[in-house]
Amino acid sequence: MCGIVGYIGNKKAEPILIEGLTKLEYRGYDSAGLTILEKENFKTIKNKGRVKQLSEITSQENLVGTIGIAHTRWATHGKPSSTNSHPHNDSSNTFSIVHNGIIENYQELRKFLGENGYQFLSETDTEVIPNLIHYYFSKENEHSENTFLKAVNIATKDLKGSFAIGVLCTHFPDIMIAVRKDSPLVIGKGDGENFISSDIPAYLSFTHQFYFLKDNEFAVISKDSIDFYDTQLTKINKEISQIDWDATSAEKNGYEDFMLKEIYEQPNSIRETIGNHLSLNTPCQFDELNFSKEFLSQIHKIYIVACGTAMYAGLTAKTMLENICEINTEVDVASEFRYRNPLINKNTLCIFITQSGETADTIAALKLAKSKGATTLAVSNVEGSSITREADFVTYTHAGPEIAVASTKAYTSQITLLGILVIYFAETLGKNTKILEDMKKSILELPAKTEQLLSDITEIKNFAHEVYQVKDVFFLGRGLDYNSSVEGSLKLKEISYIHSEAFYSGELKHGPIALIEKDTLVVSVLTVQDLMDKSISNIQEVITRGAKTLIITDKILENSNFTKIIKVPETNQFLTPILSIIPLQLFAYYISKEKGLDVDKPRNLAKSVTVE
Ligand code: M6R
Repeated sequence: MCGIVGYIGNKKAEPILIEGLTKLEYRGYDSAGLTILEKENFKTIKNKGRVKQLSEITSQENLVGTIGIAHTRWATHGKPSSTNSHPHNDSSNTFSIVHNGIIENYQELRKFLGENGYQFLSETDTEVIPNLIHYYFSKENEHSENTFLKAVNIATKDLKGSFAIGVLCTHFPDIMIAVRKDSPLVIGKGDGENFISSDIPAYLSFTHQFYFLKDNEFAVISKDSIDFYDTQLTKINKEISQIDWDATSAEKNGYEDFMLKEIYEQPNSIRETIGNHLSLNTPCQFDELNFSKEFLSQIHKIYIVACGTAMYAGLTAKTMLENICEINTEVDVASEFRYRNPLINKNTLCIFITQSGETADTIAALKLAKSKGATTLAVSNVEGSSITREADFVTYTHAGPEIAVASTKAYTSQITLLGILVIYFAETLGKNTKILEDMKKSILELPAKTEQLLSDITEIKNFAHEVYQVKDVFFLGRGLDYNSSVEGSLKLKEISYIHSEAFYSGELKHGPIALIEKDTLVVSVLTVQDLMDKSISNIQEVITRGAKTLIITDKILENSNFTKIIKVPETNQFLTPILSIIPLQLFAYYISKEKGLDVDKPRNLAKSVTVE
């Protein structure tokens, strides 16, 4: 959601800003714009539509300035339009800002500023910010870099809500100021040039050194320096982080789309996730956790909290935790958990799963759990992301940057890491179960099995071609297979816009079967041996009513009357969701391609949901 970039250095800012915006396109947006500061004047250009269209305009403008900010907007307050796009400048064109987040009290501030002579051009919440900065700046007798910072500081104290902001001022063409609260912002350190951006991939081809701002910290950035301040405007020191992501890992590398590339990266991303955590014949290692037997023994309840795909990964972790560690575990959607007063005490462990580490509801849920005395553990893919600064403990999936809105490799890495975590808990607790050795062996085999699965995808691709015009698809599953069904259904609806729902197979007769008619497509995942006969009976019931069926299974199903069977390799029962989902990712992908849709940037969706 909304992408911010900023550049200050010796080079022309415009192409660097456009490059940064292009790298952030995956976040989802409907308009884009930039401000270049040239000869103490702003050149602000904004446009509804794609970054490419913006760049067609800006490239005609001969913009030579070496400092600028830019933005991709995902509309919240006010429709997508060039007026509502960012950057927004104050009424006197002294300050230009880009903003990610939501200003909840903007109407009150707008009224106050209106009474003080400020005029507004847009319908956005954001436009109050440059005007408020101007209001405080104009109250100062002297104008220096300090008063610029002071005005930004006082203005942000008036803001309720979330914000990541980059600010330029015409009086100070050699600096930009950045500040954040509850919205992501990173600062890239270059050589004679510096950057701001919402996310690391924007400037990986320029630098691998990043600073991460905490809530309400300010950065004053020139081409040769970055100074940090707290809310009292006392200078603070911050550590720089070296991010080892490969710049090309955020490129398509010859694939048509990021989603397809990320599906194919899974053998390697799973390998990276396993990392040094697991090997045969030695206990699993999590140096970043170092949980003792005493600590884990007093955990009576685990909550797994997340959104979307990350929450579905949590469903599989629940089954593993309850069956292997015998710890009562609940999985919750973060947006519900944060408002439902969950029963939490010091014997509760709350695990928050988030690829981006920036999901607003998941972060808020973590803050709630912490305030109630729980131990909090974040499972994230992005180093230095907001959640990693809030949690008591953090462990990383190391799946590499995931750019496509539809999550694929992050999901399989999340289940892999959670599986290893469960083994680690079980070993630490002294559970002597035979299943641990089998799980370890099976996890180590996952990269090869994933590779095998991806080596020939013709069948699923052809099936997608046959059925892509369907209007409704229902997914069925029991136990762990249900987890793959909900995730498969989410993948399909988000990138193909086909109506799709997942049900527990056993619930079919309690309502959903009424929807089945001739040629309805029903997808079913069949791997859980103990539930196989029951699940097959449910599928027969939909076939009897005329449904077409796609079956994902690791078993040999002979003499069946299913429309299509896709076979996946066998693995330990708890790990089956990792392999079952891959054909369903491809199914969603190829249906979307058949329909000619933008696979990586589906309508209305954003990669990081940084607002509620
Ligand atoms: O970054 P997070 O893992 O916290 O994101 C959670 C969901 O927004 C995300 O998984 C979403 O459901 C995906 N678009 C699904 O493909």
